Amino acid sequence: MRVPIVVDRRGPAPLHRQIYEEWRRGILSTRFAPGDRLPSTRDLAAMLGISRTTATAAYDQLMAEGYIESERGSGTFVSRDLPDVHPRMTRAADDSSARSPVRLSKYGTRLEPASVRPTPAAGIIHLSNPVPDVADFPFPIWRRLLARQLRRVAPATLDYGSHGAGHDGLRQAIASYLARSRAVRCTPDQVVIVNGSQQALDVCARVLIDAGDDVAIEDPAYLGARQLFAAHGARLRPVPVLTDGLSVAALPGKARLVYVTPSHQFPLGVSMTLARRLELIAWARTRGAVIIEDDYDSEYRYDGAPLPALQGLTASVPVIYVGTFSNVMFPGLRLGYLVLPPDLVEPFTRAKWHADRHSATLEQAALADFIREGHLERHIRRMRRRYKRRREILVDALTRHFGRRVAILGDAAGMHLVVRFASPRPFAQARRNGVEMTSTAPCYVGAPPPAEFLIRFSALSERAIREAITRLG
Ligand SMILES: Cc1ncc(COP(=O)(O)O)c(C=O)c1O
Repeated sequence: MRVPIVVDRRGPAPLHRQIYEEWRRGILSTRFAPGDRLPSTRDLAAMLGISRTTATAAYDQLMAEGYIESERGSGTFVSRDLPDVHPRMTRAADDSSARSPVRLSKYGTRLEPASVRPTPAAGIIHLSNPVPDVADFPFPIWRRLLARQLRRVAPATLDYGSHGAGHDGLRQAIASYLARSRAVRCTPDQVVIVNGSQQALDVCARVLIDAGDDVAIEDPAYLGARQLFAAHGARLRPVPVLTDGLSVAALPGKARLVYVTPSHQFPLGVSMTLARRLELIAWARTRGAVIIEDDYDSEYRYDGAPLPALQGLTASVPVIYVGTFSNVMFPGLRLGYLVLPPDLVEPFTRAKWHADRHSATLEQAALADFIREGHLERHIRRMRRRYKRRREILVDALTRHFGRRVAILGDAAGMHLVVRFASPRPFAQARRNGVEMTSTAPCYVGAPPPAEFLIRFSALSERAIREAITRLG
C-alpha cells in the first residue's frame, strides 16, 4: 500500500501531531472522501517507520473529533456522516484570499483606527508620551496589597458575583475619596467600576445613544471620545472652547448628550468657570440633556486646590461623572469608574455585565485597600509636587527660547500643556533635532490652528524637558 501522508522527522511538531494534521487536512480538502479506508495503525507505523503508539495517538484524536470512525473487524474509515454541506473544495480554493469580505455592521464600518503612538527611538525625546511617571509609584506597597488578596483566596475575589457594578469595597472607597477630594455627591451604589474611562464612555454611548442622536462635544475634544460617539452613529455637534471652557452660548438647540472636560479641558487645558458650569447645567435642564463630565486628570492642579466637580453642583440634572486611575496610578491597570444618577445605575450595570461581566477583581480589591489606607492620596500629593516643578521648568524653557513666538495655553494643571507657535517651523524641525511632538489637529472637528501642539511633561525628567526645548529652540 502506498503511504498516503508524509511526516517530517526533523520538523518542530511531534510525529503524532503531524499525522493527525495530514489526515485532517486531507479530509477537509476532500483528498480523502467519506468511507475511504485508512491503513491500520500497525501498517501505518510500518510504512512511516514510527511506533504504533504514535500512530494510535493520532488516530485516537481524529476519532475523538469525528474525522474518522472504526468498524469492529473491518477497519478504520473516513467518517461517512460528514455532512453534505462539508465544503467540496481543494486546499487551494479554501484559501482565505478566495472568499468575499465579511460584511461589517454599521458600527463596524464607522470604527476609526487608533491614533498611532510614535515608538520611542534612541536619542529622541518624546513630548507626546501620555503616561504618568511610574518611577515613583509605590510598587512595594502595591505588591504587598495584591499579595494580601492572593493569600486570602476569598471566594468573593476569585469570582465576579452576579452584578456588573464592581467590587463593593472599591465602590465604597471611591465614593468617599470623591466626596473628600472632588466634592462629588454620591453613595457607593451610584459607583460602577469599569476598565478605564474609555470603557465608561463606551458604556455611556451604548446605553444612551441611538444612531442619529445629536451629541454635543467640545471642539477640540479628546479624540477617543469623538471617535467612539461617531462609531455609535451619533450626529456630532462640535462646540468651540473659549478661555473659560466650553462656549455654552454656542450649544445646539437640542442634544441628547453633552460631553465635557470641565476641570482641565482636553486638549486646551482651560478650566470651565463656575458661571459657565451653571449655564451648562441650566441649558441641560431646559433641553432634557445628559452631561458627561470626564474628570480624567483633575487631581493635578498646581495653583491652588483642585476645582470641585461639576457633578456636585446639581442633583436635578443628570450628570454622569467619569474618572480613571490611569493617570494617578498607571494606565495598564485599566480601572476607572462612573458615578451615575440613581436611575441610570441599573441600565449601566446591565451594559457592563453584557460587555464583560466585571473588571478584574483582584486588582479592584487591592485598590480598595490602597485608597482606604491613604496610599493613593499620598502618591497623588507627591506626584503633584513633581509635575508642578516639571511644568514650571517647561514653561520657563519655552518662554526663554521662544519668547513671544509661542503662546502657552491652559491653566497650571494636568500632565500636558498646549502651545501655539507663531510659525509651524519648530514642528518641521523637531524630528530632525531629536524631538517628537504631537499636533492637536486630530482633536479638532473644525479647522485646526496651523501650529498647535501638545506637550506631555509628566513622564519626562527635568533634564529631558530642558534639553527638548533647547533642541526645539
Ligand atoms: C480626556 C480623556 N478621557 C479618557 C481617557 C481614557 O483613559 P483611560 O481609559 O486610560 O482611563 C483619556 C486618555 O488619554 C483622556 O485623555
